[in-house]
Amino acid sequence: MKFNLLNRLFIFLLMIYTSIGFSQKTTDTKWWKEAVFYQIYMPSYADSNGDGYGDFKGMTQKLDYLQNLGIKGIWLTPFLKSPKVDNGYDVANYYEVDPTYGNKSDFDAFLNAAHKRGIKVIIDMVFNHTSTDSKWFQESRKSKDNPYRDYYIWKDEPNNWESFFGGTAWEKDNLTNQYYYHKFDKRMADLNWSNPKVVTEIQNVLRFWLDAGVDGFRLDVINFLTTNGITKDNPMKDGKQDHTNDIDQEGVKNAMQIIKSTVSEYDNRFIVGEIGSDKIEVLKQYQSQDLLDVVFNFNFGSIKEFSTQRIFNELESMEKNMSNYPTLFFGSHDMPRMIDRLADGNVDKATALTALILTAKGVPFIYYGEEIGMPNINSENRDEMVDIQGRTHYKLALEKGKNNKEALLEGNEHNRDKSRSPMQWNTNSFAGFSNKKTWIKINPDYKKTNVEALKSQKKSILNTYKKLIALRNKERVLQYGTYENLEYEKDQISFTRSFEGKKITVIINFGIKKEIALPKNATILMGNKILKSNSFIVYRN
Ligand code: NOJ
Repeated sequence: MKFNLLNRLFIFLLMIYTSIGFSQKTTDTKWWKEAVFYQIYMPSYADSNGDGYGDFKGMTQKLDYLQNLGIKGIWLTPFLKSPKVDNGYDVANYYEVDPTYGNKSDFDAFLNAAHKRGIKVIIDMVFNHTSTDSKWFQESRKSKDNPYRDYYIWKDEPNNWESFFGGTAWEKDNLTNQYYYHKFDKRMADLNWSNPKVVTEIQNVLRFWLDAGVDGFRLDVINFLTTNGITKDNPMKDGKQDHTNDIDQEGVKNAMQIIKSTVSEYDNRFIVGEIGSDKIEVLKQYQSQDLLDVVFNFNFGSIKEFSTQRIFNELESMEKNMSNYPTLFFGSHDMPRMIDRLADGNVDKATALTALILTAKGVPFIYYGEEIGMPNINSENRDEMVDIQGRTHYKLALEKGKNNKEALLEGNEHNRDKSRSPMQWNTNSFAGFSNKKTWIKINPDYKKTNVEALKSQKKSILNTYKKLIALRNKERVLQYGTYENLEYEKDQISFTRSFEGKKITVIINFGIKKEIALPKNATILMGNKILKSNSFIVYRN
């Protein structure tokens, strides 16, 4: 009898235990699964001191706007001390805020103010390379036996590896008569990740910023780390270099594990990795418990031309392949603005695309200005072109014998300025971004496309974004729901997501106007059952 009772108690406890275990498994709650992220390109958001560059004080003043928009996570592009050859992706000191953006106290004030508003902040960390201005590099180049020599990669003879900005990846330094390796500009030298001292330095950097209170990191081109040194030449494919040996090297995952375990010394932090690839097979291998929480899904986010079928295929492929949430975005500082690239300037279409990323399964990232439909800017001549990648291609084209017009065309193909113009706040001069000047030109359409104007138009893109974000913030189904079905039919994507017995269905129509038959018990949460072209409906069923 006694045994029987104990036995029953044991079975009962076991049941509770397994059901907790099970529900934890199915509902792996994480703040970053609940957040809509917003990427701020540091130089272009808000300038408080009239130097033409955005800064922390300016951004702090805009936090009410972001809170009101419903943003729960901010990704800041690099703000550390830098000569800004590549707008901060060339870090000269990992421990110092670049004076253009303010100082550490301004950063702290920004972070506190964001946290007070329920907004988490992740910061961009560039660990593949440093600026050649960095103390590490300055020491490294001094002599072959300098203690910092092996922080970078030096060789007597270069191999055929090319820079991702164009041209060779090697620069000769006359001080020691050796070449150093740089995957990007020659003023951005690649760190030697096979040197344990470098790994320790990076761990210290991570801990410094974690101690400062950041909620996580966006890791720049993290699969590019040179963990296995300079190996074989890269092969050529269709007249272009195929980057088979210089990226995804053996050892990259090990480096990521070290980064992950360092970050995991702190609670509740988040890592999103930029993996330089648009292939799902490459992307998926870096997402796991001991590697990255999420990766930027360029297979989806960086598609060059609009195609409903293609977008659907990528969505489906992410569902099949990724071991955890994918990321959902259509814009960043490295690609043309989504409204021009995928929507031919059509505001409704851009909004429908955003409805997709805010209701599908994944972590959505909005690129600043997308919420007001900011379009591309164009560089009309060489002087207007600021981006180092655009400039490098322009220069290489001239060297190849092309004339100025052709070189400008080639430069502009690679020019990333398009999506980097200052945020358009109002109709004041400099679009309310600054009161004196701007580091890059302002989009001339700011008189029409600006926050102030769109705020007061009830059905503006801005207000639709706000409603969509509010819906996602409110509905756990949109944060945690699994797909019950994910379907494509001509020019239309639809899915039902379900969570804890609740269901929400989303239909996005990029085709001709149609009327849909709603289930009897449906409650419309947003949209209309008459689905115009480039519109959507979200309903509970
Ligand atoms: C990726 C960044 O997104 C891009 O802007 C930068 O130029 C390269 N990494 C080099 O850091």
